[in-house]
Amino acid sequence: MSPSPVRWGLLGAGAIAGRFARDLQHVPGAAVAAIYARRPEQARQLAGAHSALAVESPAALFAAGVDAVYIATLPDTHHAFARAALAAGLPVLCEKPVTRSLAELDDLLGLAQARNLLFMEAMKTPFLPVYRALRSELEGQQAGQGGVRPIFFVQAGNASPHTPPDHPSWSAALAGGALMAIGVYQAFLAVDWLGPASEVQALSQASTTDPTGVDAFTLVQSRHARGLSQLYAGLELASPGTATLCGPRGFATIHRPWWNPSRATITPLSGPPLDLSYPVLGDGLHYETTHFCDLLRAGRRESPIVTPAHSRAVMQMLDRTRAAIDLRFPGEPHPPVRPLG
Ligand SMILES: NC(=O)c1ccc[n+]([C@@H]2O[C@H](COP(=O)([O-])OP(=O)(O)OC[C@H]3O[C@@H](n4cnc5c(N)ncnc54)[C@H](OP(=O)(O)O)[C@@H]3O)[C@@H](O)[C@H]2O)c1
Repeated sequence: MSPSPVRWGLLGAGAIAGRFARDLQHVPGAAVAAIYARRPEQARQLAGAHSALAVESPAALFAAGVDAVYIATLPDTHHAFARAALAAGLPVLCEKPVTRSLAELDDLLGLAQARNLLFMEAMKTPFLPVYRALRSELEGQQAGQGGVRPIFFVQAGNASPHTPPDHPSWSAALAGGALMAIGVYQAFLAVDWLGPASEVQALSQASTTDPTGVDAFTLVQSRHARGLSQLYAGLELASPGTATLCGPRGFATIHRPWWNPSRATITPLSGPPLDLSYPVLGDGLHYETTHFCDLLRAGRRESPIVTPAHSRAVMQMLDRTRAAIDLRFPGEPHPPVRPLG
């Protein structure tokens, strides 16, 4: 039996919206129904490619008979658009970083709970097949002999030397910077394996060529419920782009690009390494979308993979890091408070 249809409304029609729409071909029963962009021709172009309706306002999108809304705008607008969608009674899948701050996220989670609606951050990495295989392999090993769990240390980074000068990641007004645009992935990885952070230390560096008010490179060290992490994110450096999960009897490597991975290796101290290899189908966004559609059909209000607690712990790490490096966004109602001492 084919799954019941999920008609998506897209808020924003930029790069990620285009990738999301293309990847829907891999999501059983899902289609783009309507698209809003502040530049009508941008919405019309994307809508035309997917036989969808281009609409002229967020309100028109919510009234277009859609079953769920995908927020694909920049992080400065995630809170306002997600709030409007939830207030209109629609479930929301919201791009990363889910909001500018924990205060904004808590407001959305409160509304989603009050309206009994599914809300999930679009954090694609934990849905990719090799990440799922690594998790299930390590969890299976814990019960047996010679496994590398429990993971106690997470080391991960992602820096790209190719961020063009006009990219929104360089804008403080758009809640950009290396930490928000890229560090959010590393924060998720640390939280996913080690739990929420109780202590965060950070150093950051502005752009070497053109100081913009945001961090070009940020280094974070955190103490978590179950271990320590060391993470980095950058906008103008090359990096190996790997992630390592260390336990007392071995380690696991998620190979480059670790945030969009197809290969991982588990290296126990005793015994041969185990290679895991799972090609990413399409653009890799459809795994999270399929999961979201399945939750919707099952009447669930939370994802068990990217839980509200995950997103809260990640935003708390980003808030604490921003306070430590004094990164503020203009117009932000709740800037993170610099910790005392
Ligand atoms: N999951 C992933 O793999 C992944 C990858 C890349 C990006 N992202 C995330 O996806 C989001 C969008 O990134 P992107 O690369 O798609 O950016 P983008 O190409 O610049 O597209 C952003 C879209 O949002 C619209 N927008 C921006 N500000 C708006 C406002 N105030 N009101 C209405 N519309 C507004 C833009 O309209 P205009 O064109 O008129 O400005 C454009 O349609 C970000 O949160 C980013 O972190 C996720």
